[in-house]
Amino acid sequence: MESQIYINPSILNANLDDLENEISRVASTSDLLHLDIMDNIFVPNFTFNLERAFEIINFSKLPVDAHLMINNPDEIAPLYAENGCTSVTFHFEAVNDVDNTIKDIEAANDVDNTIKDIRSNGAKVGLAIKPATKFADIEKWIEEIDMLLIMTVEPGFGGQSFMHEQMPKVAQARTFIEKLLRNKPTLQIDGGVSLETIAEAANAGANCFVAGSAVYKSDNPAAMVSSLRSLAQKNYPF
Ligand code: DX5
Ligand code: ZN
Repeated sequence: MESQIYINPSILNANLDDLENEISRVASTSDLLHLDIMDNIFVPNFTFNLERAFEIINFSKLPVDAHLMINNPDEIAPLYAENGCTSVTFHFEAVNDVDNTIKDIEAANDVDNTIKDIRSNGAKVGLAIKPATKFADIEKWIEEIDMLLIMTVEPGFGGQSFMHEQMPKVAQARTFIEKLLRNKPTLQIDGGVSLETIAEAANAGANCFVAGSAVYKSDNPAAMVSSLRSLAQKNYPF
């Protein structure tokens, strides 16, 4: 099962005035809808408030995978789980940790508590890391989560260039995950995924791909999702 490939379109660069239709356009070929939530604090951009986010979750024809780019996600993340998201992903760097190193016990507890609170509200748990964060920093939680998200751009905006230099981290995570006997988390990447970059990421060990502009700039978004999937499948060696 874990060798399954997932393609999750991000609606960040879709037509935000007609989201219900934009989601329907990709529903037949996609696995989940990737919903980017930004607070203009953790990242320099804002997307949806809670009310709007819950509306989108409600009318989405696809199950929703929320990517929370918000500071102190410990209180908000469980609300996304409670309101119907299939999975909720929060950033390791965003828990209460002033110096972004998670050396103190309290901050580490926040990671544990956020994981627990998302799960107890009925969603799968994703943990995301920014490009500067090392795999070793989150390794201790790998068996507690359902998905690891390795960012392949600085979070905040769609349409940025894929960071090839993140591939060794993806490979390191895949090697670690393959040694686990059970509860192997999905390995997701997000940012700059396209027909030009997906093969390299699959080859390094990613099996779940978020794609925003590649999908919505295409004339046929549903067909683009299928093309991305077959390229990933062909190049995923695990
Ligand atoms: C960026 C977001 C991404 C974004 C990806 O911070 O997390 O999900 O929508 O967009 P593309 O695929 O255009 O890089
Ligand atoms: Zn995202």
